[in-house]
Amino acid sequence: MIDYRSDNTGRAAPEILDALVRANRDTALGYGADEWTADLQRRFSDLFETAVRVFPVATGTAANALALASLGPSWGIVYCSELAHINTAEANAAGFFGGGIKLAAIGGKHGKIDAALLAEGLAGIAPGQLHKGQPTAVSLTQATDLGAVYSIDEIGNVAETAKRRGLRLHMDGARFANAVARLGCTPADATWRSGVDIMSFGATKNGGALCDAIVVFSPELTDGLAVQLRRAGQVWSKMRFASAQLIAYIENGLWLEMARASNGIAARIAAGLRDIPAARLLAPIEANEIFLELPDGAMDGLERDGFQFYRRSRTLARFVCRFDTTEAEADALIAALRRNLGTVPRAAE
Ligand SMILES: Cc1ncc(COP(=O)(O)O)c(C=O)c1O
Repeated sequence: MIDYRSDNTGRAAPEILDALVRANRDTALGYGADEWTADLQRRFSDLFETAVRVFPVATGTAANALALASLGPSWGIVYCSELAHINTAEANAAGFFGGGIKLAAIGGKHGKIDAALLAEGLAGIAPGQLHKGQPTAVSLTQATDLGAVYSIDEIGNVAETAKRRGLRLHMDGARFANAVARLGCTPADATWRSGVDIMSFGATKNGGALCDAIVVFSPELTDGLAVQLRRAGQVWSKMRFASAQLIAYIENGLWLEMARASNGIAARIAAGLRDIPAARLLAPIEANEIFLELPDGAMDGLERDGFQFYRRSRTLARFVCRFDTTEAEADALIAALRRNLGTVPRAAE
């Protein structure tokens, strides 16, 4: 079997597991008062070129819901892409932890928020209009839920529209590493310098083991968030093991190395798809995910050939590349697509 089901079906990076074993010595205070968690603050502040607070959490859902809960009142409205994971796959955790927060879906291409459509949505609620919830935040997903990547300008446009109305900006960075690897920019440019106040910093999908994090760029959010985290059971007593994982994740650029690997495999598949017109891409392949519209029956053929992937509908398949997916596995997928779908001769390049 060749597994393209998800980026969480694979292994954790050995460097991260080694860090867990190395942290297993002596005694250390609980609940984040340990030396690893202090070091984590310094390491992430260096990485983001500004003083940040980092809170390890168990899952991306916890990161999203609690970050959003820290942004505003329980009657707040958070704007996001209609395809955003917070809107489609988190059992309304944001609404639950935010005490009633409502999500409002905004259209856009390839899982992005279109800044003009956001402005239109915001114009529909006048400030102080008592019969509606009040806009409080915007959440964008980087890389998007269709595997596309916002450019720095696109993030800036969404941020500007949000800030004009006094809203906070959250980034769901479950695949932030893939986006930064794609953009070739600094983590700072992709976040706070573009207007992001708080982010969910994914690690698990990209070779992590057991934790993600919330990174806070706007310090006034920290105290409220800390209480939200405690109340939601997201403050480990043996926090050093969570912090050790995240330190190892970014140490020596490991996180970007792994993201470049999975992006590279996806790009190899993208190149192979160019002469298979029957496989239609739903969004450009800019990170590590591939969404393909396939003719009826093609998915059965791929499964018979030994490939695992998610069927999103009768004709839509999702393939996800992991940091440990091999070039041979990429070539095998292309060969199977060619076998099942046929090719056309390539135009001279
Ligand atoms: C874009 C995005 N955000 C958040 C999550 C949530 O992560 P978790 O499953 O760890 O809660 C996922 C998981 O698939 C995701 O794809």
